[in-house]
Amino acid sequence: MTKIRAKISGIQGYAPPYILTNQELESMVDTSDEWITSRTGIRERHILKGDLGTSDMGAEAVKGLLEKTHTSPDEIDLLICATVTPDMIFPAAANLISHKTGIKNAFSFDMNAACSGLMFAIITATRYIESGACKKVIVVGADKMSAITDYTNRETCILFGDAAGAMLLEPTTEEVGIMDSIFGTDGSGFPYLHMKAGGSLRPASYETIDNKEHYIFQEGQSVFKFAVTKMADVSAEIMKKNNLTSEDVSWLVPHQANLRIIDATARRMGISKDQVMINIQRYGNTTGATIPLCLWEWENQLKKGDNIILAAFGGGFTWGSVWLKWAYDPS
Ligand code: UT7
Repeated sequence: MTKIRAKISGIQGYAPPYILTNQELESMVDTSDEWITSRTGIRERHILKGDLGTSDMGAEAVKGLLEKTHTSPDEIDLLICATVTPDMIFPAAANLISHKTGIKNAFSFDMNAACSGLMFAIITATRYIESGACKKVIVVGADKMSAITDYTNRETCILFGDAAGAMLLEPTTEEVGIMDSIFGTDGSGFPYLHMKAGGSLRPASYETIDNKEHYIFQEGQSVFKFAVTKMADVSAEIMKKNNLTSEDVSWLVPHQANLRIIDATARRMGISKDQVMINIQRYGNTTGATIPLCLWEWENQLKKGDNIILAAFGGGFTWGSVWLKWAYDPS
């Protein structure tokens, strides 16, 4: 029997217009452009202003995706949104995105695996397609990180930005699409990266607000150590598992949290920097959106059959790698 795979058949990104530069951050906290650039690689990030939420950015990306792939909203069977900043705890941002884009025949849900969320969502979508349960699935990675960032804390406020990316997945019988994946989680890593309040353990109160517990809490150095090891390990592991050499890999698409983590991963895989998609300098860490934003920006350079490795590490801890073969040539 011919194997049905899931292929990415379209990709679209969205970043809100306001740009927060390192220079502006210098006027907000005790930091410098030199420190931020040398420690993280980030120069600027986009910030969603006004009375808007994550679903508004997700909807922008999905609208563009439907348009460019000539897909009617009625054809979509499933929409998954990877996010840690849904508009509200419930309903899911995915439901709001579907509503805002006229998607009526699909079921939809959110997936929370922090910075690895997009990859967890891709593989979930892949299983729905491989099983024959769904024909057209949209995976959205969207985060309004500015909503949970403390702009008086120099250790975190320099890192994050807002954006969304959306991809269409469809079945194929060709030797392209999602080929393999490896994932891991380790809940014991939660103390190093989490948001303390606003969930069922510590609902919002005057105390949680006074203590600034509704913002990202990160022990940067500890997370850095885990991230470097895990992202590099899991990327090397998927290559070994599938007998891929560094010459076979056309592109590494790493989660964009820190340029030093990206460099370490590329070194471990033995691939050169010009095979790595890097746009952290313009977006910062947009959590669920980093990987689709890269694929969107590089779309015109991708060729059918290109071997691409996606790799991520994030809060939870969560990590993973996906090997895919790009499914179409530039239009
Ligand atoms: O995407 C989810 C996963 N998250 C990550 O992968 C993030 C992983 N962590 C990191 O990327 C890095 O740890 C950071 C970028 C967050 C921090 O870089 P670092 O090289 O680990 O710096 P550090 O935390 O060790 O701090 C070094 C120094 C400290 O000063 P002292 O104690 O040496 O005097 C900090 O107080 O740099 C200071 N510092 C800053 N200085 C200027 C921390 N933040 C800043 C800042 N500007 N924004």
